[in-house]
Amino acid sequence: LFEGPWDFVWASTKIDDLPPMVGQEIAFAGRSNVGKSSLINALTRRNALARTSHTPGRTQQLNFFRQVDHDERLTIVDMPGYGYAAVGKEKVAAWTRLIHDYLRGRSNLMRVYVLIDARHGIKDVDGAVLETLDKAAVSYQVVLTKGDALKPADQTFMTEATFDEIKRRPAAFPEVLLTSSEKGMGIPEFRAAIGRVLAE
Ligand code: GTP
Ligand code: MG
Repeated sequence: LFEGPWDFVWASTKIDDLPPMVGQEIAFAGRSNVGKSSLINALTRRNALARTSHTPGRTQQLNFFRQVDHDERLTIVDMPGYGYAAVGKEKVAAWTRLIHDYLRGRSNLMRVYVLIDARHGIKDVDGAVLETLDKAAVSYQVVLTKGDALKPADQTFMTEATFDEIKRRPAAFPEVLLTSSEKGMGIPEFRAAIGRVLAE
């Protein structure tokens, strides 16, 4: 599914500037610095497809990546991180509007992966996003990132605790994945999960 070359195809800062819908799409959402761009690189086996950074707020548009020369093209969308106050209220409001408009209007969007830092768990700002997705009936799955930063016992604990928090949410897929882009943890499982969604 993820084999072969990927290309950056488009960046949108405005809702009337989205690329045409081609095939199926999946999107990655999460707080600033949670590891969205790193996870996209790990899934696609590309080191620098999505630009990563130590500085929160690196990704400021909806970035679209697409498989090249592939019959059933998959598009991956890297979303601007939310919850990063230092960029200023106006910008945050603009991103929030863009994200909401995109999530509401994209009929080929198969699933949103909401990334949560395994060390921190679901924060209020994440809860608000899950609420938005539930209300818009956009199917999503919670994925824990940076699992390598936890001891094995804590990895299990955080995965179960996070599952407990999302299991009653209407649009949440009832499984929490634990990943580490740095160590490759959970990446094959994540690819398989995406494969199942696209085959639905
Ligand atoms: P924004 O675009 O600013 O919203 O950030 P992002 O969510 O795309 O995060 P990005 O992938 O740029 O990674 C942010 C930081 O987290 C970088 O310093 C990465 O090196 C680090 N990071 C990403 N994945 C992992 C991981 O699996 N383990 C650890 N320990 N650090 C990680
Ligand atoms: Mg990013």
